Amino acid sequence: MTLACPAVSTGRSFVQSLDAAERASRDEIMALQREKLAWSLRHAYENVPFYRRKFDEAGIHPTDFRQLSDLARFPFTRKDDLRENYPFGLFAVPREKIIRLHGSSGTTGKPIVVGYTEADIRMWSDVMARSLRAAGVVPGMMVHVAYGYGLFTGGLGAHYGVERLGCTVVPMSGGMTERQVQVITDFRPDAIMVTPSYMLALADGFARAGIDPSTSSLKFGIFGAEPWTNAMRQEIERDFGIDATDIYGLSEVIGPGVAQECVETKDGLHIWEDHFYPEIIDPLTGEVLPDGAKGELVFTSLTKEAFPIIRYRTRDLTRLLAGTARPGMRRMEKITGRSDDMIILRGVNLFPTQIEEILLTDTLCTGHYQLELTREGRMDALTIHAELHAGSYGPNDLSGFTSRISKRIKDTIGVSTRVCAHAPGEISRTDGKAQRVIDRRPK
Ligand code: DLL
Repeated sequence: MTLACPAVSTGRSFVQSLDAAERASRDEIMALQREKLAWSLRHAYENVPFYRRKFDEAGIHPTDFRQLSDLARFPFTRKDDLRENYPFGLFAVPREKIIRLHGSSGTTGKPIVVGYTEADIRMWSDVMARSLRAAGVVPGMMVHVAYGYGLFTGGLGAHYGVERLGCTVVPMSGGMTERQVQVITDFRPDAIMVTPSYMLALADGFARAGIDPSTSSLKFGIFGAEPWTNAMRQEIERDFGIDATDIYGLSEVIGPGVAQECVETKDGLHIWEDHFYPEIIDPLTGEVLPDGAKGELVFTSLTKEAFPIIRYRTRDLTRLLAGTARPGMRRMEKITGRSDDMIILRGVNLFPTQIEEILLTDTLCTGHYQLELTREGRMDALTIHAELHAGSYGPNDLSGFTSRISKRIKDTIGVSTRVCAHAPGEISRTDGKAQRVIDRRPK
């Protein structure tokens, strides 16, 4: 799909500047998906022994795929399948055709590796450019990329998309907060791409430098790689005076740019369905659920050459909704968490994002927080470590704050927790994905 010309520099209307797929009707997208899915299933079967074996074992052949609902008859792929085929076992093209490798260590150790042909990198750059445009960025702007560069897909994925859209990229990578503040202040970028938690650390960096972040040149922020709430969005938008949108992706599917929120609606992320086919399943039974129902997100790639992925179980929990700003493509609701992040506390299921939502309703709270799980006797206990805004409280406010938050958690989630207030800077920062849960329970 060719990237359409910029609205701004050519005087074309915004709609004319969209890619053809963004303007397509739902029926047109579904027809495209039928055709591309048939190709992708055949490509995986013919070129990856793992898929051939899995399909054969399930008694299904790519020629059995005739309509979109037939996809449900094909087997799932899981993270363990990638680990077991480490490093290059799932590649569908000779290694010499691969022009880039990326990888992720994930939270549980053994890494996974993914590869890209030249055409894959072109497609990825196109969907990233499309994501940037949806976030409000137009050609000619300057974009500061503070996602990590390296095997992680965030930095280089964003980088190629910025160049593809015709913008100036500042390839900062993560870390060195003071330096980031200086570069943003001196270069005056229009947009920033970074994890939401590190954006808050940058806000602290501005404060330490004696600069009000809302006076920075930034107008747009594109945040992802970890769950974050609408409450966090408001916090970031207020601090920096920007429009903040959500970007989603994962290494196994391509990296960032699988789905992106549109700045004009900020109502969930449009999935770029001309390249990635989503399903929502019941995580326990594997049954495909209808649009609107919450469950585990599953993706099949439609156009990838080097690393086709069939029915990949992301473990991310969300639901699919009809398209709005791009009517032909469905949205996914902001991710509330991963099935493996779910805390079961004395029989109650909860996600860190639910705590984040409650903390950020309180004006004393920053978005820096951590959840500590311990065992007391036979019972699990949860302590919420919440950092407070500098100068927002006196010694007499603290007990009111902690009891207010634990009462709100008890009332809304239904579980008793301990809340511990921290002075500014006390909660550790990361320059990438935040670690929200610290599990100190005996194994
Ligand atoms: O995090 C790719 C990425 C980079 C996305 C930069 C957005 C921006 P992985 O390291 O493979 O890839 O991690 C993928 O991160 O399955 C989700 O659990 C989580 N994740 C990614 N984006 C979001 C988001 C990159 N917007 C895993 N909201 C995914 C919530 C997200 N979780």
